[in-house]
Amino acid sequence: MNQKKRILLCVSGGIAVFKAAALTSKLTQNDYEVKVLMTQSAEKFVTPLTFQALSRGYVHDDTFDEPEPDKIAHIDAADWADLIVIAPATANVLGKLANGIADDMVTTTLMAATAPILVAPAMNVHMYQHPAVQRNMTTLEEFGYRFIEPDDGYLACGYTGKGRMAEPEDLLAAIDHHFIRQAHREWHGKRVLVTAGPTVEAVDPVRYFTNRSSGKMGFAVAEEAAARGAHVTLIAGPTALATPHGVQRIDVKSAEDMYKEVHRAYPDTDLVIKAAAVADYKPEDAVTEKIKKQDDVMTLSLVKTPDILKSLGEQKKDQVLVGFAAESQQVEEYGRKKLHEKQLDAIAINHIAKEGMGFDGDTNEIMLIFQNGREVTIPLSQKRDVARHLLDEIEPLITGRGS
Ligand code: CTP
Repeated sequence: MNQKKRILLCVSGGIAVFKAAALTSKLTQNDYEVKVLMTQSAEKFVTPLTFQALSRGYVHDDTFDEPEPDKIAHIDAADWADLIVIAPATANVLGKLANGIADDMVTTTLMAATAPILVAPAMNVHMYQHPAVQRNMTTLEEFGYRFIEPDDGYLACGYTGKGRMAEPEDLLAAIDHHFIRQAHREWHGKRVLVTAGPTVEAVDPVRYFTNRSSGKMGFAVAEEAAARGAHVTLIAGPTALATPHGVQRIDVKSAEDMYKEVHRAYPDTDLVIKAAAVADYKPEDAVTEKIKKQDDVMTLSLVKTPDILKSLGEQKKDQVLVGFAAESQQVEEYGRKKLHEKQLDAIAINHIAKEGMGFDGDTNEIMLIFQNGREVTIPLSQKRDVARHLLDEIEPLITGRGS
């Protein structure tokens, strides 16, 4: 995916410089080409040699140091970049950039740059809240800079609050998302509804029925759709997974809760991807007192839950509907039946009896069948890769180009 995209990392002087070193390492490991520029104050925290070793390139820190006579270093660096990342960005560097001051290698290069710029501020909580810093960030946003907000938490200065630079893995995700977004303009502004995870159906206050779904497939789909620039609402049954970046999450428990939330969002939705493993039955009467042990055999009456996806098919206007099917036998036949009965545009069928396709695993393989009969196999791979492949296949449906 990355095809050696070029990242120009501008490092200014704060304690978070050590995280910038970790980011450099992650970027090169993820097939990005990295060049590093440092301010003199950044070098008080970590030496240029660290960044040189991690990026495998010369680190520029002085506008007047011109090691290659046929080039002007700061112009060359600016022109070279596909994306510029300022991490950490101090209050000082934000102030200079917002006010057109270019007095070192980092600021002269940024002034000469036309590439998109991502900024990861890092500073004391009171500095971050200072009106001058806030004003400078607003100005930079108006210039087109995009910000990766600092985290809330313990700060090196001893305070607790907002100002801690985002973690290297979050910066890497934001960088990945930038390039994914750039490559998938069709998704920008599309409203995507994803359901994920199991539902739980209460028996009494301490017991419930659920299933083995981990939610990983649906979460991966939500993350990928958000990375492509869609507005994603993720309606999730109980799972321990973290909310993907840029996704609006609504937690639910039972099939009935999910039904309500899905229908609330449905009228304003362009695409539904229904990856949740919804319980088909629930106890007829969920009692409020704990059921006491009695006879050797206990019989529990179950009643059907609403089929959410089927109801969406029935009320469909111009939404695109993609269902999932978990099958252990006659996989294609049952899958096709669900595609037609639930009036779907496509169905992603999981053969759950196959190796590597466990409900709670990290991998998956999908047989994707479209309404017009077209079939695509998404081979066994990590769920994030399956999600990418799945959205690539669905893309023509949301742009009205058919399947
Ligand atoms: N689904 C739903 N509401 C239900 C049951 C299923 O919305 N009460 C959705 C699932 O989210 C999935 C699709 O329907 O997208 C197929 O789910 P699956 O469990 O494979 O099939 P069922 O329709 O439940 O049929 P069966 O259990 O008989 O295979």
